[in-house]
Amino acid sequence: MFYICGANIDDLMKKVLITGGTGFIGSHTIIDLINHGYEVVSVDNYTNSNAKPLSSIKEITTVAVQNYVVDLCDLTATEQIFKDHPDITGVIHFAALKAVGESVAKPILYFKNNLNSLLNILECCRKYEIPNLIFSSSCTVYGNADELPVTESTPQKEAESPYGRTKQIGEQLIKDSLKGSKTNAISLRYFNPAGAHRSGLMGESPVNPAQNLVPVITETAIGKRDEMTVFGDDYDTRDGSCIRDYIHVMDLASAHTKALEYLLQGENDSAYEVFNLGIGAGVSVLEAINAFEKVAELKLNYKIGPRRPGDVIAIYADDQLARERLKWKPEYSIEDIMSTAWIWEQNRTKA
Ligand code: UD1
Repeated sequence: MFYICGANIDDLMKKVLITGGTGFIGSHTIIDLINHGYEVVSVDNYTNSNAKPLSSIKEITTVAVQNYVVDLCDLTATEQIFKDHPDITGVIHFAALKAVGESVAKPILYFKNNLNSLLNILECCRKYEIPNLIFSSSCTVYGNADELPVTESTPQKEAESPYGRTKQIGEQLIKDSLKGSKTNAISLRYFNPAGAHRSGLMGESPVNPAQNLVPVITETAIGKRDEMTVFGDDYDTRDGSCIRDYIHVMDLASAHTKALEYLLQGENDSAYEVFNLGIGAGVSVLEAINAFEKVAELKLNYKIGPRRPGDVIAIYADDQLARERLKWKPEYSIEDIMSTAWIWEQNRTKA
């Protein structure tokens, strides 16, 4: 064991910069990293969040996380974080705009924000010789895939939205920018993240009205909206509604810790690798609603409406690669997703 100025060298190797640290997935990942002995520094300009998750993280872990309120599109301010923390061993880049519908209405905003911030992170990783980078990607990179389940090598179709395009381009920018640099990188392609921390202290807090299925369900159940609409029951699926692969946010969080450890231990075969993160099973919208009604023991007020433009009919992951290579195993079911999300909805509505 080596000690430098009284500090354990193992500890010095474990400082991680989280971009988007107060967002839904970023904040839950911080908890998992802290629980695994990592020191975390966060950067988040609160575009779609606020400082509240930082106090929840403190309550859950007793650790106060430093957050830089910095726009990652500002290179000088971004660089300062790397100068302040020369011992960062990895960056997990969550920060991005992510509303599919908004991206269709404001494509330039999405391209500028999501790609300029990524380019600045890549520039800093190269300049400050950051060894490890993990990128928040999405199953949206597959577009309307021809084969199910999708594997990492399933051919990518046209992106269905500018948001999806930023993820496709983002992955390519990372891959190409690694050449001649000291950084190894992983893109994690999330399927449908949902659920909340078991403590009931932290979960998804959409700033604008929720659009994703699980928060729409819980907001309807608690009375924030009178009813919800199932977008189409005439698809060619087992019950006519769309099929997705819902993955609990804490399962996603643990996958980030595992991916970082995989890179730190040099287990990667190449400088850039990609993993799907889903539970490997499809759940229809109507099945998701049934699961909620079962765990919450109430009837949800929903109606069947027309299809939502741009919706993919069915998509779910082949997640074998992440299970085998990252030694990761999702542990939460759709019922766990619904019960934790429901507890969180009730707590945040009371607060
Ligand atoms: C999409 C992207 C995902 C991205 C996410 C961000 C795809 C395949 N997925 O997820 O990568 O991270 O947006 O927002 O492009 N639904 C209803 N009623 C509602 C809300 C949703 O029926 O009020 C249905 C939708 O039609 C869909 C399912 O629920 O079939 C899930 O929708 P949602 O939670 O919005 O996620 P995706 O659109 O699948």
